[in-house]
Amino acid sequence: MTRFPDGFLWGGATAANQIEGAYDQGGKGISVADVMVAGEHNVPRIITDGIKEGYYYPNHTAIDFYHTYKEDIALFAEMGFKVFRMSIGWTRIFPNGDEEEPNEEGLKFYDAVIDELLKYDIEPLVTISHDELPFYLVKKMQGWSDKRVIDYYVRYATCLLNRYKGKVKYWLPFNEVNNLEFPLGNFIQGGILNEGTVDFENQVDDVKLRWKAMNNVLIAAAKTVIEGRKIDPSFRFGTMICHITEYPRTCHPEDILHVFREDQFRNELCSDVMMFGEYPYYAYSYFKENDIDLELSDEDRLTLKKGTCDFYTFSYYQSVCESVTYEEKTVKGNIMGGLKNPYLEESEWGWPIDPVGLRYTLNKVYDRYRCPIMITENGLGAIDKVEDGKIHDPYRIKYLHDHIEAMADAIKDGVDLIGYTSWGCIDLISMSTGEMKKRYGFIYVDLDNQGKGSGKRIRKDSFYWYKKVIESNGEILD
Ligand code: BG6
Repeated sequence: MTRFPDGFLWGGATAANQIEGAYDQGGKGISVADVMVAGEHNVPRIITDGIKEGYYYPNHTAIDFYHTYKEDIALFAEMGFKVFRMSIGWTRIFPNGDEEEPNEEGLKFYDAVIDELLKYDIEPLVTISHDELPFYLVKKMQGWSDKRVIDYYVRYATCLLNRYKGKVKYWLPFNEVNNLEFPLGNFIQGGILNEGTVDFENQVDDVKLRWKAMNNVLIAAAKTVIEGRKIDPSFRFGTMICHITEYPRTCHPEDILHVFREDQFRNELCSDVMMFGEYPYYAYSYFKENDIDLELSDEDRLTLKKGTCDFYTFSYYQSVCESVTYEEKTVKGNIMGGLKNPYLEESEWGWPIDPVGLRYTLNKVYDRYRCPIMITENGLGAIDKVEDGKIHDPYRIKYLHDHIEAMADAIKDGVDLIGYTSWGCIDLISMSTGEMKKRYGFIYVDLDNQGKGSGKRIRKDSFYWYKKVIESNGEILD
């Protein structure tokens, strides 16, 4: 008996804005990612009000996948990928977001990418919106806080669903949808740019406006599922949650209660809506405390109820400790906050490394949702060195090895895990810092933090390792 089921979907994940570059080609409009300046570890990315002279915007050129997709997909095929998680750049299809008709040139690019994947029998897993909202909608209407964006999004999404019917089966309406529950999600998830916001990590927040946006996003996702099922009943839609697994720092009952509630709020609220079709009870107590009225109509409630997802997906990078009784510093450099866990090591960017937490999380989410699960992001952001034209990355292999072992354990526990797409399978622009040197890939891309370099692709040691993992369906990990 093998540890992973037959047909397990091994692969990798990316997002259009972090790989494509060509930000002003093919009729593409400006997206939220295009106005974020490069930062560094502990130096937040500045958000500019439009594209300004004198700044370096790393997503403008990224790794130039727009021109190198054939070569890059050939490398994914060489590793044996069964699935490739990609996103579609909203502004390539609807440059401002509110157009009536799509930009054919943008669609042609994705036709070519998808056909290239299918040529190698790689299943495309498409994120419809991954931090790529048209900047025009930010300026015109504060993004998702305006209900009109629901219709714009559904027009965009149904355009893709019609176009790729018969080619794409798995769809994720939104990346890390729950990030908008927090001030950090204002700009890139919500398209909200409040006066006074200067950088990504310290955004001026208006909790009521943000929850309006959050609710509109959830309604748009449900509408997309409903429309999608009409277009092709064999489509499968998934939620995508940024799962920051929470542990109490002490066994003080107040800490247990605190973490239980934090976990519900952070990790479960959005997927409860997307999987069960209604806001959970604990959301209403939060809304009451914060004087938030979602103004849900009967029609909205019905939409949420009818437009539930088929499978659950999440990103898993780390766990954090929380406490209301224990005084200590947060984990250094970790934008997700949390207290230090003395039992865990951290990445160079201060993200705790916790493979056992993945087994725990898989069991926890399966217990709650009882549906097929995919891990759509996981990986180690690290600095790689090129030595004699080679990249030896045992640290990445160890990280992935331990997390894949944890997946095998969870499957043994009975979890219905159907796929794994490791994040940034090819080096790309970091979302949180805009750096190139925070690398996740099996494939090295010769570019530095200023976008300088040959752009050449080099197979890392982890490339050959992952190839063997896939070939053996997860049996050979050493
Ligand atoms: C997830 C995002 O939050 O984490 C990705 O969906 C992102 O877009 C990934 O790149 C890793 O984070 P970072 O900040 O290291 O790029």
